[in-house]
Amino acid sequence: MEVLVTIELPDDLLAKIRRQHNVTTPSGNLPMPAEELRSLIKGKHGLLCTITDRVDKGLLKEADSLLVVANYGVGYDNIDVEECTKKGILVTNTPDVLTDATADLTMALILAVARRVVEGDARVREGRFHAWTPFGFLGTDVCGKTVGIIGLGRIGKALAKRAQSFSMTVLYYKRNRISREEEAHLNIKYTEFIDLLRQSDFVSLHVPLTKETYHMIGASELAAMKREAFLINTSRGAVVEEEALVRALKQGIIAGAGLDVYEHEPDVHPELLNMKNTVLLPHLGSATKETRRKMAERAVTNLLAALSNERPRDCLNCDRVKKGNS
Ligand code: DGY
Repeated sequence: MEVLVTIELPDDLLAKIRRQHNVTTPSGNLPMPAEELRSLIKGKHGLLCTITDRVDKGLLKEADSLLVVANYGVGYDNIDVEECTKKGILVTNTPDVLTDATADLTMALILAVARRVVEGDARVREGRFHAWTPFGFLGTDVCGKTVGIIGLGRIGKALAKRAQSFSMTVLYYKRNRISREEEAHLNIKYTEFIDLLRQSDFVSLHVPLTKETYHMIGASELAAMKREAFLINTSRGAVVEEEALVRALKQGIIAGAGLDVYEHEPDVHPELLNMKNTVLLPHLGSATKETRRKMAERAVTNLLAALSNERPRDCLNCDRVKKGNS
């Protein structure tokens, strides 16, 4: 069959697909430009793509032979899953393998904003570290504080564990509350959305981007937070109304933000760039050698399973795609 791969894959994994199928790979710049993707999708049975590729109605119109979209990434807001389902196209993602890396990075952002790690590093590099002083460069304690986790999926739970090892109290909000037994086991407390915003010293976002979560954090939610609190986002940029965040940071409505994702990624609101109370990362949540390798393995395994007419492990719509296609 014909397969289009839009990303760089480790040689051995690309060879694994090539042993069974004809593979087209990007001709140049990455991420693959939308026009290139559109021009190559015709006649392809499998697409291995990533979170920067938009698999929308327009692209799917051109996809006359597509059987599977294997996304390299756990988030799949780049894919119109409903439209794929209507067209009988399976969609897969790469859950689990990036949970720890993303939770680690979230903890790193919490520590970095609270302890001014990035500002401190810049101070030393600029040759402006002149002396230790009792009241210089004071940050905020993390230990003993409260983290409010919005969205308690795999990554949210992994963050809860890490936060507890820093002696933090963990609150969570989730549309469907987990069982009391699991709450007790995880030692976390369900808190209504607005109360979580009011009570947390760090609010960390772990929801997928959907119609419901788009701009979930805007001016009024930021105003509900404590003035000393920090907002941490390693989920998707558009969960936060970036313009409102910038205003809140400028006006001291919240103390700071640790961001790995942006509303108009890869563009970052220019005013964020000049703020000392933000730590800004280029979407690094899953960016470790080990994790990215596992994501690639998982995406390739899902792709090959679907093309062999087997049920892929991480299928998002297998139960809804009409039998005969899967
Ligand atoms: C994902 O997988 O959704 C991440 O955002 C990329 O690591």
